[in-house]
Amino acid sequence: MATYFDRVEAAAAWLRGRLGEPPSVAVVLGSGLSSFAENVRGGTRIPYERIPGWPVSRVVGHPGFAVAGTVAGRRVLALAGRVHAYEGLDMPAVTFAVRALGRLGVTTLILTNAAGGINPRFSRGALMLVEDHVNFTGANPLIGPNDERFGRRFPDMSQVYSVRLRRIAQDTAQAMGLALEHGTYIGVTGPSYETPAEIKAFRTLGADAVGMSTVAEALAARHMGIEVLAISCISNMAAGMTVHPVTEEEVLETTSRVRAEFVALLEGIIGRI
Ligand code: HPA
Repeated sequence: MATYFDRVEAAAAWLRGRLGEPPSVAVVLGSGLSSFAENVRGGTRIPYERIPGWPVSRVVGHPGFAVAGTVAGRRVLALAGRVHAYEGLDMPAVTFAVRALGRLGVTTLILTNAAGGINPRFSRGALMLVEDHVNFTGANPLIGPNDERFGRRFPDMSQVYSVRLRRIAQDTAQAMGLALEHGTYIGVTGPSYETPAEIKAFRTLGADAVGMSTVAEALAARHMGIEVLAISCISNMAAGMTVHPVTEEEVLETTSRVRAEFVALLEGIIGRI
């Protein structure tokens, strides 16, 4: 039976065959944020089902295709849709796409997500540059035998989110006159949203936003030496921060409202990388 590495390598080889010269920049589009894929010019859409071994999400708001083309004059591979641990998938599946991107030759990875706002200064619809994360998922994609072809056993995580890319993001936002918050993302498994007591606890842990993705992908990417940038769309204020309950409808309504701003920011950032 093929090893995990072999399956990742097969997916990367398949993509290489389809794409020719591999792009060095990739973007993972979170819940409700996949419209960025429409801005990839000259793009070939590749449904995930066609890529050997690629896990497919069944979550609403997460379509499931890769598109390669140019954004702001740069070759980019965008992934519209990702898989989550709460779907019942293990860490190797959750990080399969990032592993394949790394083996394909991607050196810069932009992760995007929808997240609940914990910092009381934030409001719904804000965009937050992720400065750091707290892994509260209880899982780590690097557990298990270490394959040196991906990276070393004990990778440093003192700077998961690249200072260089964060500066570019900040400069881009400033040039656009766009407010960009910054803070710490706490990763949870979901799929239930949090209780108000959990959010209060997360605030004391130093978290500014909470979400169900990104952390595992960022860990796998750093393991492979890929430079990472992450941007959260604060799709709702987290449980207990407002009087109303947290709903998926609110998450998707907000991400669709900030879509244009978000896409413009991403384009601007890619143009400056
Ligand atoms: N909690 C966890 N994940 C989320 C949230 C939230 O409030 N909003 C969007 N993703």
